[in-house]
Amino acid sequence: MYEFIKPILFKFDAERAHHITLAGLQLAYQLGLTSFLPKMPSAPREFFGLSFPNRIGLAAGMDKNADYVDALASLGFGFIEVGTVTPRPQIGNPRPRVFRLVQEEAILQWLGFNNKGVDHMAAQLEKCRYRGVLGINIGKNSNTPNDQAMNDYLYCFRRLWKYASYIAVNVSSPNTLGLRDLQAKEVLFHLLFALKDEQKNIHISHQKYVPLLVKISPDLSAEAIADVADVVMKLNIDGVIATNTTINHEGEKGGVSGKPLQYLNTAVIRQLHSKLRDNIPIIAVGGIMDKSSAQEKFAAGASLLQVYTGLIYRGPNLIRELL
Ligand SMILES: Cc1cc2nc3c(=O)[nH]c(=O)nc-3n(C[C@H](O)[C@H](O)[C@H](O)COP(=O)(O)O)c2cc1C
Repeated sequence: MYEFIKPILFKFDAERAHHITLAGLQLAYQLGLTSFLPKMPSAPREFFGLSFPNRIGLAAGMDKNADYVDALASLGFGFIEVGTVTPRPQIGNPRPRVFRLVQEEAILQWLGFNNKGVDHMAAQLEKCRYRGVLGINIGKNSNTPNDQAMNDYLYCFRRLWKYASYIAVNVSSPNTLGLRDLQAKEVLFHLLFALKDEQKNIHISHQKYVPLLVKISPDLSAEAIADVADVVMKLNIDGVIATNTTINHEGEKGGVSGKPLQYLNTAVIRQLHSKLRDNIPIIAVGGIMDKSSAQEKFAAGASLLQVYTGLIYRGPNLIRELL
């Protein structure tokens, strides 16, 4: 069906097409139509103490506000990551800010964390029926200086942990000025140390262990990747999500996702895995467009996969193909 809808969607501005698609999916879900979708083969696995019905997840950014979780879950994902959410709502950069690079099977965007803030997300998740694995990807507001970034992450964590199967700490989006500087060894250590401490407090006071993952950029040097791995191992961070979009492209600004990211992403995973081994799971996200790119990520050491741009070019059938 997606093959019929795609040419129509591709006539619209990419961000508009995104909203039309999600509204359409939501409507189909509310009308009960998605219950006719064939069930996914079950392929359960355990990571960070969570049971995943399968290893193919939805990447952050598709549902930034947790407005569509139930509808998206009906497509058969093994897990869903919502966000990036920031403490206060923000509108992001002026439009147009999302573009399809059709020849390259890529997306270029500089959204800049447009989202409705933690209170809206909490209200949405309160109503949500989905009981599968739900990751919540958290960030900082663009007007919060980096030396106060920790407060934003702690605020999001405290406000949202009770809805989350895991929390993903996003320090890698290229469209919030200075965000990626939070990946520097000392800075990252302090940030994750504080969040680990909060994880412990919540575990003690509420008997819920909320795994903490960090999402990194594909544009880190080999040395910087080794530094991230060091911090992750020292602090017992539960997992790493690799990677966000790349700024390594010909355009003047923004992050690129999809096929051009594939090999760069796999190289990061391979390098991370050489340090983390199988002790700390890696979620691979970047340029997974078909079966062979997915196999490449597992061969490089990934435990779980997430998709975003592949869904735009291939539709939800991609999930079944990967499974
Ligand atoms: C339109 C768009 C919005 C995104 N928004 C976010 C976001 O809010 N937070 C985040 O961590 N990653 C975000 N991403 C990055 C994706 O989660 C993913 O890491 C990246 O696109 C690479 O995967 P892909 O090649 O399968 O798209 C976004 C990507 C796209 C294309």
